[in-house]
Amino acid sequence: MVYDRSDIEGLDAAILMNPNVWKASGHVGSFADLMVDCKECKKRFRVDKIEGKVCPECKGALTEPRSFNLMFKTQVGSVEGQAIDVYLRPETAQGIFVNFANVLVSSRKKPPFGVAQIGKSFRNEITTGNFTFRCREFEQMELEFFVKPGDDEKWYEYWVNERFNWWISLGIRKENLRLREHAKDELAHYAKRCHDIEFMFPMGWSELEGIANRTDYDLKKHSEISGADLSFFDEATKERYMPYVIEPSGGVDRGVLAVLVDGYRSEQVKDKERVYLALDYRLAPIKVAVLPLLKNRPEIVEMAHKLRDDIRGSYRVVYDDTAAIGRLYRRQDEIGTPFCVTVDVDSLTDGKVTVRNRDTMQQERVEASRVKEMLAPKLCM
Ligand code: GAP
Repeated sequence: MVYDRSDIEGLDAAILMNPNVWKASGHVGSFADLMVDCKECKKRFRVDKIEGKVCPECKGALTEPRSFNLMFKTQVGSVEGQAIDVYLRPETAQGIFVNFANVLVSSRKKPPFGVAQIGKSFRNEITTGNFTFRCREFEQMELEFFVKPGDDEKWYEYWVNERFNWWISLGIRKENLRLREHAKDELAHYAKRCHDIEFMFPMGWSELEGIANRTDYDLKKHSEISGADLSFFDEATKERYMPYVIEPSGGVDRGVLAVLVDGYRSEQVKDKERVYLALDYRLAPIKVAVLPLLKNRPEIVEMAHKLRDDIRGSYRVVYDDTAAIGRLYRRQDEIGTPFCVTVDVDSLTDGKVTVRNRDTMQQERVEASRVKEMLAPKLCM
């Protein structure tokens, strides 16, 4: 988003902001889930997550639905009684809107252009779970793309496609991804249209990212409540307008979960199960593992250490000598390490090492001094 394009700027806004930001955005008034409590077992549920009129766990009677605001509150100011309530941000988006004028002036951009941000958001979710799918503290990646009113439909279509293809470019299989448009009664108060990109998680199709046409709702509201005019004046055409906003908003944690689920592979190799994580090489946390075939031969250990030190600095590399070679390979397969490099007895005479590929398990003998150079194009770095 930021480094590969010239029409998007990166931003790192504050987590704690003036509470009026959340009044303007509508979060103080309406960022709430309706919830019910079970009168018997005292468990709490979201109304939209239960099917009948009784507790899904113990069949006990439920209370009337009550509204539960999802924002975490804290106080700014140390004098008791004079502190003011502030909120941990429930989305990164509003930090972009309130910095819109700053970015505009400092970057000299004009619509169409975007501001992207990645960072923690906090929501007091009633029901967390499904591993990291729903957390109270999570990482969001959001883009607010500012366009001229009238151009919004075109840019909306553009970003829905762009974002869908981005997930595919990370190696997620197309059959595990789908687009779902929100029905009119499902749209958030600020949205004209919204598509969710959904992934086939183990618990079923669920949201990975949403792309919304937020219209000029946010900039107008912030202008109104702060008194600062956030409209844009186009010097070339002498037009003044309030930009419309197209917003792709994704969860990093959900993205990582999707990548792990999608990459999990299992196959039979010589009557044994082999499990490996088919991560796109760019996403693999460790790129290369250096493995000595015999850990009690000092010359092999020395050569393997040298190789590890040579690779370190270019790629994240680990050295492991704590098991037999077959076991070491399986360990790296399971965490998705694209390449294992093994130093053996022959290496001491011919100067060559074995490079093994995670997905094909094919092995190649390569001059130890050429390993880094040979991996470079494969690791796309
Ligand atoms: N600014 C728009 C916005 O925040 P959202 O649909 O509420 O929209 C966007 O959140 C994305 O953030 C979701 O698609 C999801 O990936 C992620 N997300 C939202 N709540 C989450 C939670 N409790 N735990 C993990 N990820 C969450």
